[in-house]
Amino acid sequence: MQLIHSVSELRARLAGENAVALVPTMGNLHEGHIALVRQARERGTCVVASIFVNPLQFGPNEDFDRYPRTLEADCAKLQGLADVVFAPSVGAMYPETQTVFVEPPPLANELCGACRPGHFRGMATVVLKLFNLVQPQVALFGKKDYQQLALIRQMVSQFNLPIEIVGGETVRAADGLALSSRNQYLSPAERTEAVFLYRTLVAAADALRADDKDPAVIEQKAAQALVKRGWQVEYVSIRAQAGLAIPQQGERARVILTAARLGKTRLIDNIEVCL
Ligand code: PAF
Repeated sequence: MQLIHSVSELRARLAGENAVALVPTMGNLHEGHIALVRQARERGTCVVASIFVNPLQFGPNEDFDRYPRTLEADCAKLQGLADVVFAPSVGAMYPETQTVFVEPPPLANELCGACRPGHFRGMATVVLKLFNLVQPQVALFGKKDYQQLALIRQMVSQFNLPIEIVGGETVRAADGLALSSRNQYLSPAERTEAVFLYRTLVAAADALRADDKDPAVIEQKAAQALVKRGWQVEYVSIRAQAGLAIPQQGERARVILTAARLGKTRLIDNIEVCL
């Protein structure tokens, strides 16, 4: 496994590779990332994991400064799984001030985008840059960031990028909490409570499957259940899996998405439901 920090070294290393599978990450790797890297191995002869905490996708009051940076431990986890770890500095990624951005579609201002203005614009911009630098045939993203995955799919399709996008299933702790680098911000008491986010989604999914239930009522009930336990809820929303539109009557493939804060920690999760 080769650790590369510079764009020129990356390009030189990847020249001649024709089955590159890319797993973009912000580091602090957990089993969810590792599962994607393992899947990447099945899809490419050269597996690249990128590790870059992208300032463009953090708002002024968000956790960019304290986001855990654990490159050495990440590389140890990737040993034997990835061929290349690309870990550029901010200066290597943005040698000049980035004034050209990917302008994402209106979906970027809904759900997580409503509370994190500019987040998806910064995310899409860095992902496009990574695609241009690595030029992968396949790129893998976790379904935990469902809205991110939907926006990346739209970007790839509408910009005609020759990259297959693969969504990896969310990896969960034994109690059901979706793995996330941000889980480590939780106090022990919050960590115990955190599983209730997933349990609320499971209950909402059960209610949705019972066919006489109005989605708006289910969303409201789920949000209320969280608020009662002390969560600050940003949204609970039932959407169509494809494109995350408000589902039409009879649309079977749905997903219930949520974002909520427990103390100072913002958690997101989702559950797919096929009716
Ligand atoms: O999901 C993430 O870790 C990031 O949003 C990504 C895709 C690596 C872009 O910075």
